[in-house]
Amino acid sequence: MIVFEGIDGSGKTTQAKILARRLNNQGLKASYSKEPTEGVIGRFIRQEVLANGQITDPRAVVLLYAADRSTHLNSVVFSDDVINIFDRFYYSSVAYQGALGVPIDYILRVNSFAPKPDLVFLMDIDPTLGLKRLNRFDRFENIETLIKVREIYLNLAKQYGMFVIDATKSVEEISNKIMGIVEETRSVAKGR
Ligand code: TYD
Repeated sequence: MIVFEGIDGSGKTTQAKILARRLNNQGLKASYSKEPTEGVIGRFIRQEVLANGQITDPRAVVLLYAADRSTHLNSVVFSDDVINIFDRFYYSSVAYQGALGVPIDYILRVNSFAPKPDLVFLMDIDPTLGLKRLNRFDRFENIETLIKVREIYLNLAKQYGMFVIDATKSVEEISNKIMGIVEETRSVAKGR
């Protein structure tokens, strides 16, 4: 299981999809999926939390993302010969809902059902640059919030041993770096 995290505009979706394609091109089975999902709860979140901000209660938002995550995990096939690539996971809840004031230990408790990924890539970028790359904005996409989100992400990276990737580099350079880390991790795991 490989997770991509990062603030909006960090390029994580691009890199997650490229990684899936490169692994598939090598004859491996890689699946790509994202949160919020395209399922009922994910669509509800996009509409009522992100687009029109109808639901603002931070704890309710944490619970909605966790509910979406649970359905996401149930929809994914976990097997030794499939590499599951997740575009966002519970670290997004910690970083975003944490930045909006929800206690981090509460977010972690609610998400304790989530498995520990084998690898997490944090696409790191200055939020000002990240926002410039976006052509649309949603509720969490303002600079003050994103500065806090980034700070929490960087703390999580230290705590959970995530790979912090400089997201200002070229798409190709980043992709090669990520591929190198994935290959190294796979060969270490095989050697065990
Ligand atoms: P994003 O990756 O931007 O999806 P899309 O490109 O399809 O709009 O995610 C949407 C927003 O949801 C983003 O601002 C981060 C936020 N989010 C949370 O606040 N908490 C979470 O747990 C997750 C998964 C996402």
